[in-house]
Amino acid sequence: MEILVAYYSETGNTRKVAEAVFAGLRHTRKKLLPIDQAGDMTGYDLIFCGFPVQHHGVPARMVHFLRSIPAGKKIALFASHGSLRGGEKALSAFYAALSLLQGHTVIGTFGCRGQVKPQMIDEWMESPQHQAWAREAQSASGHPDAADLHDAREFAETMLYSAEHIHGLGKKPR
Ligand SMILES: Cc1cc2nc3c(=O)[nH]c(=O)nc-3n(C[C@H](O)[C@H](O)[C@H](O)COP(=O)(O)O)c2cc1C
Repeated sequence: MEILVAYYSETGNTRKVAEAVFAGLRHTRKKLLPIDQAGDMTGYDLIFCGFPVQHHGVPARMVHFLRSIPAGKKIALFASHGSLRGGEKALSAFYAALSLLQGHTVIGTFGCRGQVKPQMIDEWMESPQHQAWAREAQSASGHPDAADLHDAREFAETMLYSAEHIHGLGKKPR
């Protein structure tokens, strides 16, 4: 099985998560690449795609990347986000990504918090309707932390198991 861990990251949070996912894959045929270096994806069986949540959704470059994946792949999604883990703000981005991946099998998702650049928090603090969100974003400081990265490695293990044993990628061709 050929595995690609592809990620987009602006301030390094999603890159750290991608590195942890990559480290968690007990598999030798694997590559870790930023999306702009992913190249031809035809040969991969399982593709991990990681992105930062932006404006409750998927950044435009990641949308473009997801649309460029050749049909019929197994996909595992991961994201970093300033909002609380498992919260609506992060989930909406996964739903957006899922809607772009029809024709593929999405085998799982993982999200963890990622600290938000102070300049964005300052901007949001200035507008009254964004202040609650700005405080939530502020509390993501220090993430992804060791526990987040541990969970990311476990996610990778689970996805590999799932791809091999549930989605049949481990079966030898007849
Ligand atoms: C322009 C912008 C918009 C963002 N919008 C959201 C959002 O809607 N929800 C959220 O949870 N985090 C949001 N964030 C926070 C990022 O998702 C978070 O900091 C992420 O970990 C950044 O990852 P990166 O370092 O890989 O770029 C936003 C950050 C920026 C810069």
